[in-house]
Order: sequence, then structure tokens, then C-alpha cells
Amino acid sequence: MKRVLITSAIPYVAGVKHLGNLVGSMLPADIFARFCRSRGYDTLAICATDEHGAPVELAALEEGTPVADYAAKWHKVQKELGDRFALSWDNFGRSSSPQNHELTLHFARALWKNGFLEIRVTKQAYSPTDKRFLPDRYVIGTCPHCGYDRARGDQCENCTRVLDPIDLIKPRSAVSGAADIEIRDSTHLFLKQSQFSDRLRTWIDSHKNDWPSLVTSIAYKWLDEGLQDRGITRDLEWGIPVPDDIADGQLKGKVFYVWFDAPIEYIAATKEWADNNGKGDAWKDWWYGDAAKDVTYWEFMGKDNVPFHTVGFPVTIMASGEPWKLVDRLKGFNWLNYDGGKFSTSGKRGIFMDAALDVAPADYWRYYLIANAPEGSDSNFTWEQFAGIINKDLADVLGNFVNRVTKFCVARFDGQVPGEGEYGEDEKALIAELDRRFAQYADFMEAADFRKAMGEMRAIWVAGNEYMTRAAPWTHIKTDRAKAAVGVRMGLNLIHQFAHLVWPVMPDFARTIHECIQPVGYRGGVIPFPDAPMAELLDDLTPGQPIKAPEVLVTKITDEQVAELKARFGGAGA
Ligand code: 2FM
Ligand code: ZN
Repeated sequence: MKRVLITSAIPYVAGVKHLGNLVGSMLPADIFARFCRSRGYDTLAICATDEHGAPVELAALEEGTPVADYAAKWHKVQKELGDRFALSWDNFGRSSSPQNHELTLHFARALWKNGFLEIRVTKQAYSPTDKRFLPDRYVIGTCPHCGYDRARGDQCENCTRVLDPIDLIKPRSAVSGAADIEIRDSTHLFLKQSQFSDRLRTWIDSHKNDWPSLVTSIAYKWLDEGLQDRGITRDLEWGIPVPDDIADGQLKGKVFYVWFDAPIEYIAATKEWADNNGKGDAWKDWWYGDAAKDVTYWEFMGKDNVPFHTVGFPVTIMASGEPWKLVDRLKGFNWLNYDGGKFSTSGKRGIFMDAALDVAPADYWRYYLIANAPEGSDSNFTWEQFAGIINKDLADVLGNFVNRVTKFCVARFDGQVPGEGEYGEDEKALIAELDRRFAQYADFMEAADFRKAMGEMRAIWVAGNEYMTRAAPWTHIKTDRAKAAVGVRMGLNLIHQFAHLVWPVMPDFARTIHECIQPVGYRGGVIPFPDAPMAELLDDLTPGQPIKAPEVLVTKITDEQVAELKARFGGAGA
């Protein structure tokens, strides 16, 4: 059996994530995981909250809440929102878990033992006004590479380059805005990344054909610029403390950098999954040595995360000298913009996961977002476009198709699958077309090529809807009941197979259909991908079996609502 391990970039714990975060990692990872399950693959989908780091510590400080409580509170919020969006992780872990403490120390000790960590006295930003060392991202200034004037000391948001605070031109404190930043000595551990350039390049070369060019171009840009050694410790209280047996206690009171322990949480969250489910060492079979050789490991993330996953985390793994799994398929995404501008958490601009669910059910968002995923380039959200796609694809095509067939069956065939008549030329032509399209759709999904897959899915709905218009059982019922029965039977079978097709994207919709159609053997849970010949599948429902028409399946979004939503959420310039 194929084994597929899937991780999505773990969201920072503080606050509710916006739809740009959702579409850049968690949603595609979930749709892909569901697709894998629907094909019968042994699938493990892992996510977590990314709980360490300066922003969390500072946010908790501002709120006056102990940071552990603060992280726990937001983890719960994110888990609940994930559930409401039907994100079906096998584990949604926490990077502050004991498992991650343990594994992070394991890696750090291996790196230390192998001589890939070095003690360096660094110059660290210190703010006398704030009376503290300023973590990298709390120093703001002008990016020396691209000139962006709000670059943070850890990374430039504009050109994605990783930075050091002292690289910044005109640095100032993000806490107080104070410009009287002093540079003081602070001892830190550095990972000798520069020694891994050749190995990394060979590894990335080997993925030139199976990673998106977005991803390889970011990775090559890094290598071409020459890899810098990376500080992996910070002057913070919240985090995973550096133990005394590393560097003879010289790093007392310091913690590992959040970007060091966050990717390790992918592994640790798998261990959490095993621990929580009494699965013993099963977590290792996904990650380590020969047992994990047959696993295909997929990572999903936004483009800002690509450097950490093509350089940072792989170097940690390589430097450990242990056979941990490196990513096989790295799916990176561009940005989703909100009405021509950036989504912004700090600026509260755009649509956040909680508010989105007040507007429309999760399925609508899942379909809209993945059909417009920022794969080849950035994509742009507008309320008009959202309403247009829901109204057209989901209401006019799919919803209308389901409604008219089921309602007609209830009205004219006593709500039972009609058995009369034989499939003719039109049905056979449709069957052949769908065989072709389902196979094409599956190929796109196997490659996590979501926009193309959704285009094919839409074409399948359209083919069904057009068939129904031609078959017109509502016309034939007056003169030729058997002919009408053929159309209805085909229609019901199509609806059933469409539900199988869409389950990874719209699980609620798929379940609702199954509850109405009640096919033999349906037990809820995973709804498998239709991978038998369509000639069989489209004659699968038993004549005489009862069916119901669903209540309202898709509600259109009116122009008035669009206007109201634009006013409520703000638009261009807001
Ligand atoms: O960008 C982010 O939201 C980070 N918290 C992603 C971390 S992914 C990883 F490496 F764990
Ligand atoms: Zn820059």
C-alpha cells in the first residue's frame, strides 16, 4: 500500500489565521490528505501550532497572561476553527509539547556531537528603553537587499531574504519604536549551514522536476548567494531551553530559535499522535530509516516558508547524521491577496477563519479557495469573484443538477431509483467522457495540481448537467416513462459519483448527498475515490432503493449581500 506523510506549515499560535494562511498550507494539505485517503493510501496528515518565539512571548506579556496559558488558549481556538473547516489532521499538535522538547534536544545534541554547532559571541540588539535584548523580528528597518523599509530583523517580507537585525539600515525597536538601539554581546549557538551547500544543491537538483519552479527558484537563490551559518538560539524565556550538556552551560538562560524547533515539531507531532493513540513507536515508521523508505513525504507551505524547508530543516536533518526523512514533494504557494492588497494579521485586513464561517459554510470556502489557489502566481480575492464562483459553479451547475434530479425523482418516481429502460448512445458517450475526465482529475490531484484538478472537476459537473438538460426526463415523462427513467437513473448515479469525487474538497456536501442517496454500504467517514470504470459506477444504485431530495444545498450570494460584505470587511484602500 502506498504510504503518504503530509505536513502543513504549522501556523503561529497567536491569533486567528486568515484565509491567505489557510489556502497556503492547511487547506491544500487537507484536500490532498483526503484525496490520498479516498484512494486508499495509508495517509498521515500532521499539523500543529507553532508556539515559541518572540511574538508569542511579547503578546502574552502585553495581555498580562502567562505565556503557556496564552499559547494553550490560542491552540484551542485554532483547533476548533480547523475542525469547523473540516481540516482532518491525524494530529494537530503543539510545538511546546514534551515530545518536541525531547526531539529538539535530540537533534541539538546530535548536531553538537557531530561538530556542526559553534559558539559565537554575537552582537545583539539591546534596547535600553525597553530594558531587554530585542529578538530579531522586533527590530525593524530597511532591507539592505531590496530597500523595503519595514523589513524585520529575521526576514524581509518583501524579498523573502533571511536577515540579521544588524543587517538592517536605520533599525528601531518594534516594541517601543525607540531608535536608541545598542548592540551588546550575547553568546549563541550557530549551525554551520555553509558546510552543506553542495549536499543541498545535489538534493535540490534531484527535485528540479517534481517541485514547483516557485520552490526551486527560491532554494537556488539561497544557494547562489552563498549559505550563511545560522544562529539557532535566542535571548528569550519562552521556548526550549538549551541544556547544560551542550557547550558546557555557556548558553544558560537561552532557548532554541523558534525556527529551529518548529519543523522538528512535524516529527514530534507524529510522536504525539502515536502517544495519544497507543501506537508506540509507529511514529518512527513514518520518519526514520528503512521503515520509512516507502513513505512519500509531502510538505505544504506559503512561499515565505520555503527557505526554512529547503535549507534550514534539511540541514538539521543532514547534520544529525541520522536517517530521518527529507521532504520528497514540496508544494509551495504564492500569496492570496485581499482585494488587491495584502491580507494582514497585524493590520486586521482581510477575512479571518472565524469571520469567514459566519459568511458561508466551510465547503464554499474550501472549493472557492482551492479552485483559485495561488499556485502559478499570486491570486486575488474579491467578494464579487467569490459570489460569482459560488453562484455559478456550486449553485447553478452542481446544486441545480442535484436539486432537479432528486426533486423530480421524488415527485415522479416515488423517491425510488427507477429501474426501467436501458442506457443508450448518449449515456455511453457520457460514460466515456467521464472515464477520461476522472482519470485526468486523479492525475492532477496526485500531483497536487489543484487549479487544474478543480477545472476538471468543474468540467465533470458541467458534462453531467448538460447531459441532464439533453435527457430532459421532465419532458419524456409524459410520453415515454422508461426513457425518463433512464435519465433519472443516470442522474442519480451521477450525483452519487460526484459526491465521491468532491469529498476531499467538500466533505459536508458529499455527506449530505450520501444521506439522501443512501447507497448500499455507506457508513460515513472516508468516501472513496471512484476508481472503477464509469460503466459500472454509473449503474451502481439499486433500482427501487429510496432516495431523498436534499434541503437547500447551495444558497446563492446576492448582489446586496456582496455590497454588505464589502462594507463589513472593507475593500481596496480599507
Ligand atoms: O509562517 C508560519 O506561520 C510559521 N509558523 C511556519 C512554520 S512551518 C515549520 F517549519 F514548522
Ligand atoms: Zn528585502
